[in-house]
Amino acid sequence: MDQIVCVAPESFETELETELRLSGATVEMRERLAIATNVPPSSAAAWAQNVWRNPIRIEFTSITDAAKKLRGLHPYWSLHSTVFHRRAQLIQDQLPKIKNPPIDFLGTLPAKTLGSWTLLDENSLLAATDCTSVFPDGEVTFNEDKEAPSRAYMKLWELFTVEGVRPAPGARCLDMGASPGGWTWVLAKMGCEVIAVDRASLAPAVSKLKNVKTLQRNAFTLKPEDVGPIDWFFSDLICYPKDLYDLVNKWRSSGLVKNFVCTLKFQGETDHASAREFAKITGSRLKHLSVNKHELTWWYQA
Ligand SMILES: C[S@@+](CC[C@H](N)C(=O)[O-])C[C@H]1O[C@@H](n2cnc3c(N)ncnc32)[C@H](O)[C@@H]1O
Repeated sequence: MDQIVCVAPESFETELETELRLSGATVEMRERLAIATNVPPSSAAAWAQNVWRNPIRIEFTSITDAAKKLRGLHPYWSLHSTVFHRRAQLIQDQLPKIKNPPIDFLGTLPAKTLGSWTLLDENSLLAATDCTSVFPDGEVTFNEDKEAPSRAYMKLWELFTVEGVRPAPGARCLDMGASPGGWTWVLAKMGCEVIAVDRASLAPAVSKLKNVKTLQRNAFTLKPEDVGPIDWFFSDLICYPKDLYDLVNKWRSSGLVKNFVCTLKFQGETDHASAREFAKITGSRLKHLSVNKHELTWWYQA
């Protein structure tokens, strides 16, 4: 039976479990780990920060035996412990040390792939050498920039650096819900031409940048034909995901936008139905970036 293990972001175990169950999968939760079977091949778990593919169950007789069996499969391993923590750590201590230093914006990603493993009980473990993230539990840390006008800039840093989705210098970008200006600041520093739209004003240091134009107004009433062709449509608007979906469709159907990056923000109950509508858009991706809170990032790159 096809099995995967998905790692939920901290505090979003329920979101991951619900998403997997709604896809038709059978799920066993072990804290942040969702051990899922019967996952439809087309469904990508947006709430999973790391997915362990083809996990194998390994029986072992001692700590040394477990470490030897893991080393025989792959050199580098990341432990996600949910039970028998001390025993698990003693096994991990017998494996080659892994380094996980903060990375630079648009810097190179770790070259070494990481296997992931967890103890199931005292004498068996679940391990996978094929994981979707090169970071332990898919958690990415950056060497930050104190100049940024808001923490939101980290979402674009992660998307651009880790997912390789990014506009080229000179790209015409629309930034919806731009204030105080973290995203606009990232895009402007990359050499993009930014139209920043928000009811609120931008931080003065950002609005002064020469490649930034501001439109202080309601983003929902802006007409595509009044803006013209756009290379990238960005939205970090605080709004209901279903309203964002309608907004995105308005701009998609205009034929004036090539690429999209949007944050789906949830308040209270997670709107899984709207998230699925976004995920269904052909060629797009929906993912909980490690920097996302109760939100998902959706993108479409032409
Ligand atoms: C999370 S903040 C955006 C942060 C921004 N991306 C950054 O990097 O600094 C959300 C923004 O959406 C704006 N917003 C919400 N509804 C809006 C609307 N209908 N029209 C324009 N701006 C709106 C708010 O004023 C707020 O500044």
